[in-house]
Amino acid sequence: MNEEKPRKGKLNNKLAVVVMAAGKGKRMKSGLPKVMHRVCGKPMIELVLGEVRSLKAGKVVLVVGNGAELVKESAGPGVKCVEQAEQKGTGHAVLVAMEELGNEFDEVMVLPGDSPLIRRETLEGLAVSRRRDSAAAAVFTCEMDDPTGYGRIVRGGAGTVTRIVEESDASPEERTIHEINASTYVFDRKVLGDTINGLSAENEQGEYYLTDVIENIVSGGGRVVAVRGDPEESLGVNNRIQLSNVNEIMRERVNNALMMNGVTILDPRTTYIDQGVEIGRDTVVFPMTFISEGSTIGEKCSIGPSTKICNSVIGNECTIEYSWLDGCDVADEVLVGPYAKLRPGCRLGAGSKAGTFVEMKEARIGGGTKVPHLSYIGDADVGRDANIGAGTITCNYDGERKSRTLIGNRAFLGSDTMLVAPVKIGDDAVTAAGSSITRDVPEGSLGIERAEQKNVPGWRKRKKKKRVGPETRNNTD
Ligand code: UD1
Ligand code: MG
Repeated sequence: MNEEKPRKGKLNNKLAVVVMAAGKGKRMKSGLPKVMHRVCGKPMIELVLGEVRSLKAGKVVLVVGNGAELVKESAGPGVKCVEQAEQKGTGHAVLVAMEELGNEFDEVMVLPGDSPLIRRETLEGLAVSRRRDSAAAAVFTCEMDDPTGYGRIVRGGAGTVTRIVEESDASPEERTIHEINASTYVFDRKVLGDTINGLSAENEQGEYYLTDVIENIVSGGGRVVAVRGDPEESLGVNNRIQLSNVNEIMRERVNNALMMNGVTILDPRTTYIDQGVEIGRDTVVFPMTFISEGSTIGEKCSIGPSTKICNSVIGNECTIEYSWLDGCDVADEVLVGPYAKLRPGCRLGAGSKAGTFVEMKEARIGGGTKVPHLSYIGDADVGRDANIGAGTITCNYDGERKSRTLIGNRAFLGSDTMLVAPVKIGDDAVTAAGSSITRDVPEGSLGIERAEQKNVPGWRKRKKKKRVGPETRNNTD
């Protein structure tokens, strides 16, 4: 048999890699190019290129076409983009890339941009297997329980690969084959160059299929090895159902890696963490929590349930529950929530608190300061160890301009203080509950703004008498 388990080995710089990413992805029914759809927060093409980059091949060519500008932005450094202006099939995509490669390389790896679960080790193993067997091509295949939609691997009498047939061109018998083509190959560069020009588009889809190169190699006496691998890695994304399947698998990989590093995830099935998120040891993540790319969470935190954290840095020993944070910088031992919304630009100092039904935006909150309940703190600088009473609001927007509120260290704001910005509350200053503060309160002073309270004796009884008619006067209810 000519199939091998993927082998590890070192690749040399005589290898060039071609990633095909020009297709529209019609079956996605999307305005976005298919390879830009995200898997655990990253566009598929970035995941594929991430694995490819780690191969340290001599050259990486990305074939772009649909949404070329957008896809190019995701390419990153060290990737040469070539444009396939008209998408005439995978064979044509490789033909376009070959023009860029010239004769400099000994071997060419080709892979699709829509199979984001592929691993570097598998790619490396494929190249090593081809070299070791001195084969003209190595094809990555796998056994799929449901092979619908994939090209099937057709083997001859001796079990050798003879050709690949696309589902739309396959006979009923060929459709029963479960071994599929993952669309990931390594070719001898010269053999590929000799066969790629001879492709025809006489098939169901009227495209130049790269898969036909295999039959051409075999009929020319060349040797093709099939390397069977993990079906997961072969999953291609052609529609939204496959996108969701791939996301689920990637999510499991991400969560498992975190758990292996000492993070407790209570219910991985309802925990959505993007690739690249870092979480420290002994942090516990509760269900229905979403942590997206660009976020870092420290050690011994308690995160969730029902929490969304984007682009934020969270220190150690923080508790964040039922809350939403975007673009925030949170120091150690901070309490957030339940039900807090921290919008971009918030910096919370060590030991501070943004409590229940608190919203903040571009607020810098000093260490030890508490904002425990029902507040809006926007465009504000708050010092250390201040206490912001329930219902306190910074009135930061007058309909035209945003203005800042400055609150000093150890300030004590009474409940329901309205701070009409721009305004400054000095260190150790106090505001009386219910005050609308429109002028600065100097250090150590009390700011009080209230109409004087008036008490009306006997008012309740008199009101009742008025309301109740003479015939019901005895009814004390
Ligand atoms: C392809 C394979 C199929 C395999 C499957 C695995 C062919 C003919 N078929 O089918 O055997 O089982 O992948 O997922 O190769 N692309 C271009 N230019 C084009 C056409 C496609 O760059 O002109 C790119 C696409 O953007 C995509 C990749 O090539 O990233 C594969 O194309 P796609 O249309 O998804 O092929 P499949 O039908 O999935
Ligand atoms: Mg595909």
